[in-house]
Amino acid sequence: MSQPDLFALPAERAAQLRAELARYDHAYYVLDAPLVPDADYDALFQELQRLEAEHPALRTPDSPTQRVGGAPLPEFAPVRHAVPMLSIQTETDTTPQGAAAFDQRVRNRLGLGDGDPAVIYAAELKFDGLALSLRYEQGRLVQAATRGDGETGEDVTLNVRTIRSVPLQLRGNPPAVLEVRGEALMKRADFERYNARQRDKGLPTLVNPRNGAAGSIRQLDPAMAAQRPLAFYAYGWGEIVGWADQPDTHHAMLDAIEALGLPVAKQRVHGAGAGVLTDFHARIAAARDSLPFDIDGVVYKVDSLSLQRELGFRNREPVWAVAHKYPAQERRTRVIGIDVQVGRTGKLTPVAKLEPVFVGGVTVTNATLHNEDEVRRKDVRVGDTVIVRRAGDVIPEVVGVVAEARPADVGEPFDLYQRLAGHCPVCGSAIVREEGEADWRCTGGLFCAAQRKQALLHYASRRAMDIEGLGDKLVDQLVEGGIVRVLPDLYRLGLLKLAALDRMAEKSAANLLQALEASKSTTLARFLYALGIRHVGEATAKDLARHFGSLDAILDAPLDALLAVPDVGPVVAQSLRTFFDQPHNREVVEQLRACGVRWDESTRDHDAPRPLTGKTLVLTGTLPTLSREEAKARIEAAGGKVAGSVSKKTDYVVAGAEAGSKLARAQELGVTVLDEDGLAALLSPVG
Ligand code: IVH
Repeated sequence: MSQPDLFALPAERAAQLRAELARYDHAYYVLDAPLVPDADYDALFQELQRLEAEHPALRTPDSPTQRVGGAPLPEFAPVRHAVPMLSIQTETDTTPQGAAAFDQRVRNRLGLGDGDPAVIYAAELKFDGLALSLRYEQGRLVQAATRGDGETGEDVTLNVRTIRSVPLQLRGNPPAVLEVRGEALMKRADFERYNARQRDKGLPTLVNPRNGAAGSIRQLDPAMAAQRPLAFYAYGWGEIVGWADQPDTHHAMLDAIEALGLPVAKQRVHGAGAGVLTDFHARIAAARDSLPFDIDGVVYKVDSLSLQRELGFRNREPVWAVAHKYPAQERRTRVIGIDVQVGRTGKLTPVAKLEPVFVGGVTVTNATLHNEDEVRRKDVRVGDTVIVRRAGDVIPEVVGVVAEARPADVGEPFDLYQRLAGHCPVCGSAIVREEGEADWRCTGGLFCAAQRKQALLHYASRRAMDIEGLGDKLVDQLVEGGIVRVLPDLYRLGLLKLAALDRMAEKSAANLLQALEASKSTTLARFLYALGIRHVGEATAKDLARHFGSLDAILDAPLDALLAVPDVGPVVAQSLRTFFDQPHNREVVEQLRACGVRWDESTRDHDAPRPLTGKTLVLTGTLPTLSREEAKARIEAAGGKVAGSVSKKTDYVVAGAEAGSKLARAQELGVTVLDEDGLAALLSPVG
């Protein structure tokens, strides 16, 4: 990364920064191989922004600071394409034979007989997005247009500029005019992330990535378009002026376009004869689910540009190209019921039961409806015809209802609470939907089989009961074999039962029993945390233990008593009450005590000397003997708090070797700095 050059003229420095940032963008967004850490990039970006603010004349349209700019448009201006954007014929035969049929047509049209050499083809992906034409003049992006009717599209330049992988300035030695044609699309991960965020906010979701891409490009407000992350892949070109040694094959043209800095998908091949195409078709079919974006097929093109010219067009479609599709990833079917499934964390998810439909390569009979709000927003009811989507390894989902197909006897609007009569379908516990949450949950917690594995793993985790040897695989076996149904069953395991499990040696069984025995002696805070009550993390569990001192006091504490605990708000208090009001949960707690789980309530924190009560400390660097964890635990046991950053409110900074910016900040603010011995002295005041 270049350092600011104090003697460089602002104009030179700005040009240097633009070039450097463009290079990093290319590496990051096109090559997928970042060159610098984000922080370095940000620093250069900010430097350029500052320069441009001081010298507005330096603000060129191809500056990376100018990707999102411009006010919302009243409408898109029409753009007449210099070279029309045509569509391609689709091979209807979706079997591998489709490729052979195309080859035969091409050979016939070229007058090639059986004895003549094979035609060279290029094969690439058929992207499922929105076609765009990007016009570069002297290497600079001057216009981006949609396909429209093929003759006239819409000017969407401002929105396309927000696509980070589209270069604003081409690299190398670009021709005077180059129109690049390709497809804008939304990658699946970006689509999922966008929808998850929308769902969290209770906002409308995108139907599928294609609609996401089209909707984003056709946004009149470029700032909105910038919110939806799109990608672009080039597959062709339109007008070209002044390209001295223009390549004469399709694949070499794409290589050249790639070298100019544009994204070209790496999934492409070229070679002689139909076999190359059939192989590509099969290979991509197998890889389809693991591609980062949706495709609806592959495209075959005659590689030689002069043969393409010879073959020409028929019915406004090139004779030299064909699309070979794959089975659809969206299909219609009927909803025959709506079930509710219980997830590992107690989340209740409505699931549509469907008339079986073959989509995205598998037969789908269930599709997620995400949550109650989504079902209502889409108004999915039993009897409706819906569009089901399955792409990639994503869980099949109901995209929407086909409104005009709704039968007269369609079911009632979905109501999750009513549907379950208020009880978890697995364990019968009460269900709740807390304010501001999209999901209903089972309150069964430890008692609910659906949540048992998760609950066991949490209970055994290091910061909870710390039961070494009780991992994923073992928990699976214990729960699936019906050996552990509730937490207390853990303490009823015998050597015989354990050693009889798959892959369990007698030695490890004995070790586990020993770890279980050792875990019985714990602290109230750990025990509370181990119960896995929603919103009760380690810190809250410690606060509760400190404040109440005994489990019984917490079990029966009314809401206002819980609210009196420092840092316990209404959400946490309600969650505690909900948990302990469930008779099942109380039963589990009692049984655990009966099994011998214990802690010393007499050493409740109030009684011990607590020299750091009310003090805030910050740890930095490596201490000679104490680990970060240990130091934190000791400070907290002494009533102090450990904060992550130094402020005026910090009482002490404990600094070890290689302390960095926190130490500097402490010195700046005049906060007392201690070493490990200094901390030890604070913890055990002489007396
Ligand atoms: S070539 C003159 N190649 O499919 C030939 N098109 O029916 C121009 N598409 O909406 C098209 N991937 O946007 C070509 N690798 C690919 C493609 C592709 C997707 C789209 C294109 C157009 C439609 C053509």
